[in-house]
Amino acid sequence: MNNKLSFKNLLTTQQLTHQDISLLINTAIDLKNTPLTNINAITPFPILASLFFEPSTRTRFSFESAILRLGGNYINLEQANTSSIAKGESLEDMGRVMSDYADIIVLRHPDINSMKAFSQHTTVPVINAGNGSEEHPTQALIDLMTLYEHHQRLDSLTIGFWGDLKYSRTVNSLTKTLASYSNNTFHFIATDDFQVSATCETMLTQQTCNYVKTSSLNDCLEKLDILYVTRTQTERFTKTLSEYLSPLNKDLLQNIPKNCIILHPLPRVNEMSNDIDTLANAHYFKQSQNGLYMRMALIKTLLQNE
Ligand code: NCD
Repeated sequence: MNNKLSFKNLLTTQQLTHQDISLLINTAIDLKNTPLTNINAITPFPILASLFFEPSTRTRFSFESAILRLGGNYINLEQANTSSIAKGESLEDMGRVMSDYADIIVLRHPDINSMKAFSQHTTVPVINAGNGSEEHPTQALIDLMTLYEHHQRLDSLTIGFWGDLKYSRTVNSLTKTLASYSNNTFHFIATDDFQVSATCETMLTQQTCNYVKTSSLNDCLEKLDILYVTRTQTERFTKTLSEYLSPLNKDLLQNIPKNCIILHPLPRVNEMSNDIDTLANAHYFKQSQNGLYMRMALIKTLLQNE
């Protein structure tokens, strides 16, 4: 199998070929099965720049942990206002300069245009760790790895997305990647205000994918292979939470098929109650654990891609 990725920067899920996805999933699963003491350090000692202009727990710490476990180190931005961006520096200039200080750069930013601007003059790989409500490609890779581990395939699956589908970049990115595999069916379960974005819908129509929009989980629960839950992205709009989600709980999932896994990119806030954690279907903590291995796989493969 070819062990090179088709891209240098990972800015959108559209760059991911099926060969890239298989390579990354296989590498991540191998790393997961390798005792940490047997993991070969990357030489020469790589430095990762971790630039987060939005809050993060899993994404940031798993990238930072990943580079440390691969024998490298990281430099980071504690808060956007501690960098020269606060003085008015452009993302273009920041990207150019950071390329001299790091071997790989991870960027999260609220602006959907930030990735393009930042990577205009960079000379080292840049990874999109979330750009506004648009994309979160590494989360999609983690989601694919987790569902592949359980279902052993990425095609012929029925997936239900539940929650805030409109503003969730993880829903966008996972929908785009799954739409490229054959025979997947999508159920978007949300109120009208939070239904899947028009861009996603257009893409699904163009790719002649089967999809249904509904406001009732019961319409599709019994058909699902994956139930993907997301929180309300309150930072991206001004509505109040009470206008929207009544939490998903164990009682509402009585008819969930035995083989259906529940995924959630986390954090959860109040859209999903903790009693679901006791169900064998709950795979979201495995999913967040996979974040470490997928990000190790991505860093390792990108740095050895030359
Ligand atoms: C997601 C994100 O930042 O988009 N979190 C994550 O990276 N695991 C989901 C979210 O914040 O709701």
